[in-house]
Amino acid sequence: MPTWNKESLRRLVQREMGEYRLIVVSNRQPYIHEIIEGELRYAVPSGGVTTALDPIMQECGGTWVAYGGGKGDWYAVDDKNRIMVPPDDPAYTLRLVWLTEEEEQGYYDGFSNAALWPLCHNAYTEPVFNLDDWETYKSVNREFAKQVLDEIGGQPAAVFTQDYHLAMLPRLIREADPDIITGQFWHIPWPNPEIFRICPWQDELLDGLLGNDMLGFHIGDHCNNFLDTVSRTLKSRVDHEYSRINYKDELTVVRPFPISVDFERINQDAQGQYVDEEMDRLTDELNLGGKVVGLGIDRIDYTKGIPHRFRAMGRFLEKFPEYIGKVVLVQAGVISRIQVDAYQQLSAQIEELLEEINGKFGRDGWQPIIYMPTDLPDLTLMALRRMARFCVVSSLHDGMNLVAKEYVASRFDEDGVLILSPFTGAALELTDALIVNPYAIEQFADAIHQAVEMPQEERRWRMVQMREIVRENNIYKWAALMVEDLMQGARRSRRPVRTR
Ligand code: F6P
Repeated sequence: MPTWNKESLRRLVQREMGEYRLIVVSNRQPYIHEIIEGELRYAVPSGGVTTALDPIMQECGGTWVAYGGGKGDWYAVDDKNRIMVPPDDPAYTLRLVWLTEEEEQGYYDGFSNAALWPLCHNAYTEPVFNLDDWETYKSVNREFAKQVLDEIGGQPAAVFTQDYHLAMLPRLIREADPDIITGQFWHIPWPNPEIFRICPWQDELLDGLLGNDMLGFHIGDHCNNFLDTVSRTLKSRVDHEYSRINYKDELTVVRPFPISVDFERINQDAQGQYVDEEMDRLTDELNLGGKVVGLGIDRIDYTKGIPHRFRAMGRFLEKFPEYIGKVVLVQAGVISRIQVDAYQQLSAQIEELLEEINGKFGRDGWQPIIYMPTDLPDLTLMALRRMARFCVVSSLHDGMNLVAKEYVASRFDEDGVLILSPFTGAALELTDALIVNPYAIEQFADAIHQAVEMPQEERRWRMVQMREIVRENNIYKWAALMVEDLMQGARRSRRPVRTR
């Protein structure tokens, strides 16, 4: 089977979708506009949804409906709230939905990120179930549905919803127009039924999601958790063998699709002409000359195990003091969801640990951890990946984790060691990483030691294997398998699909 790429995906989409329009819906927009020094400028927000779906939309066209969260967005769109993107090389339509500050708080900070996010991640942060947030979540989902239906205007369409912000949307779309094909990808884990049942509105959430013809998760375990949750909660028929659910006389197929990255593009970008210059600049600016560099790149989130990583770095230096002054962990990443209490607590915890560890081991202008919690340019992140002898992904729980795959795709030199948590979806594919439990500080410190001392030949064969896997299981394959399942599933199940 040849490797999936842009062209083969485009051909598949044309064949499978026929006259159906592709509508992607997500909370986060792929391009955001801000007004900087009186000028309208755009940026690409970080995060898995944009990384995964923008290259696909650029190739296949269609419309992406998302919340317009930028201060300049209103000035960028036309009178239908649409803009062609990417702004420099238009390929598809972005349609923005406006929310008030209160709506954003209740739906995004509140129900999505203070309730659903901790509910779905085993990171021991208690979900906050607030009735007002839940009501706002539902009304924002209704607003999204209204905009999506207006965009579709009664034409044949397939709506592909993203993530946990929009669990109620598929049911609303189906109720309004049963001819619309509905699919959703849940970008985070799905917990087991024992955990999910603490949500006071579990029936309604499941009812919303079962408005989908197809529901995708990263890995089989999350699919099984979802099937178990439905069979324990709703009056339904759950077919474990074919992984599908019959509810209200309608079928939903539940499938694993491990998300990925655009391997070829990252591989090319890593060889870009300015990357070497940027590596030199960073070496000077951060005083990295002659040091072994370790790297973390994360949204600053309590599920990513950043404190665990810092503690392991401290323990590594305690156990192997010969590396004091010789190894540096550069921790990059954007501050995120700072309105939510748990994220404020995490920021304070990180600052405390930095002070403790850098205070204890730092000397002569050298510090073991360099923390850069800012939105760094892509070029800088690429240079850091290239410079890093090892990259650490220590999530306590993570649906997939694209940072791991981006690191592997960047290393065209076939060097570098990936230290990876077994609690990521990526660990099922990247088995040549050093897989280490982030809670087990001794093993974690030993894994850092192993990465620092690993002979070049071993680094090479591990990296070669991992690169083959990411090259093969790339983002185009993810999209292709999902489109195929969605369209063919809908064809088989509840209605005739209008093809050309
Ligand atoms: O990693 C899970 C995820 O939901 C992604 O799908 C998303 O891109 C990312 O978190 C970023 O979240 P936010 O949009 O809140 O910054």
